[in-house]
Amino acid sequence: MKIISHRGASGYAPENTLKAFKLAVEMGSRDFEFDVHQTRDGVLVVHHDFSLKETSGRDLKIAGLEYSELKKVNVAAYFKADTAFQRVPRLEEVIDIIGPGSRWLNFEVKNDNNLYPGIEEKLLAFLRSKPGLFEKAMVSSFDYGTLKRFRELSPELKLAYLGHNLRAVLLLPAIKKAKAIGAVNFHMALRIAFGLNVSRLRKAGFRVCVYTVNTKKDALRMKAIGVDGIFTNYPDIMGSWVLKG
Ligand code: G3P
Ligand code: CA
Repeated sequence: MKIISHRGASGYAPENTLKAFKLAVEMGSRDFEFDVHQTRDGVLVVHHDFSLKETSGRDLKIAGLEYSELKKVNVAAYFKADTAFQRVPRLEEVIDIIGPGSRWLNFEVKNDNNLYPGIEEKLLAFLRSKPGLFEKAMVSSFDYGTLKRFRELSPELKLAYLGHNLRAVLLLPAIKKAKAIGAVNFHMALRIAFGLNVSRLRKAGFRVCVYTVNTKKDALRMKAIGVDGIFTNYPDIMGSWVLKG
């Protein structure tokens, strides 16, 4: 089972910052997940929300800022254990840190209602600009239109369907949608990750990854029901728990 650093080692350092990614690499992570947005001047950046409110306390929208403005904001302001200044990193800086030793990179593209027109072309060009990066990349999004556009632009790109508020009853329609775009992975929330759902998805041909798994009990349950990967904020201890059982 893959142990995927979720937003870097975000249990120990401010999420989606260079500090969190460097720490995850030091902890030995080789599989990573992070969230991709685009600034007003077209720079791909890594942050969870569309706004900076939850990380900086300032309700600024990434879509409304140039990168020169965005980089001045401290997005570690609410990380109690370490509020020292951290900026929103450019995607390229993140890949420079985690890329070389990585096996698998999950670019989660936040693009609800196509807020960032052209982000698909831009990300594809970036993936093709560095040797070996396209092959390691897995693109996911909660926005189905975004996944469809990626598929239209690239028949080869590996896609993951991300179920949003996915109740068990909605699993079959979701499988149909995931197949329609040729997704190879299905990423789902821990609260609906039960044996029956996971085995249905695996029988349908998907690899299943579950977010966010931060306790030993949940990690061992995921392993027992045959999940292919878990997203975790604690990649160091999660790895040893799962290995030791
Ligand atoms: O990509 C898995 C997971 O990160 C999706 O949810 O809200 O943490 O981006 P969220
Ligand atoms: Ca995410």
